[in-house]
Amino acid sequence: MPDWKIQVANTADSEEISQLYRTVWTPFLNDFPKELMDNRMPLAREIKASMEKKTYFIVRDKAKIIGVARATIEHGACLLDRMVVHPEFRGKGIGKALTLHIIDYARNNNAKKIWLDTSPKLTEAIALYESLGFRECGLFRKHYWGTDIKFYEMLI
Ligand SMILES: CC(C)(COP(=O)(O)OP(=O)(O)OC[C@H]1O[C@@H](n2cnc3c(N)ncnc32)[C@H](O)[C@@H]1OP(=O)(O)O)[C@@H](O)C(=O)NCCC(=O)NCCS
Repeated sequence: MPDWKIQVANTADSEEISQLYRTVWTPFLNDFPKELMDNRMPLAREIKASMEKKTYFIVRDKAKIIGVARATIEHGACLLDRMVVHPEFRGKGIGKALTLHIIDYARNNNAKKIWLDTSPKLTEAIALYESLGFRECGLFRKHYWGTDIKFYEMLI
């Protein structure tokens, strides 16, 4: 696995992160409710505002942002969400590297667990989380705008 350089994003990266979310989620528009897709494709200003409380980690290929994932530590637990990898750069270990990086970040910030939610339809994401040892801990039916959501956790 190449040693992807992972950086903390800053507010100047918001527009490019927003564009990456759009690139990744647009092909899924027919698979999920519109509200969920809108939520997964935030505007740059929404990303910028959320950076006050949430940490975005990015991977670049040369200057271009090709992967992003977000971590939020609250109540001693770390939520991992908003992870995407540009379609042209998948299968190269970037998603794994981002997830492992957030596990380290959580440990270093005294979190006792990492948790996340995902859709049963996102089979690549589920394969990634399960390969790293996340444990499925429940299926919430019609949880986000009528779509089923699976929860995963890892104690650290
Ligand atoms: C899920 C996603 C982030 C994975 O990113 P990636 O960089 O391609 O993943 P990696 O190359 O790091 O793969 C790590 C592991 O995930 C699993 N995996 C990833 N893609 C897979 C695929 N197409 N088929 C089966 N397993 C897959 C494998 O276990 C893989 O380990 P291996 O290569 O040693 O077999 C990417 O597919 C993506 O952006 N998907 C759309 C958005 C999404 O689902 N985001 C997550 C929301 S919860």
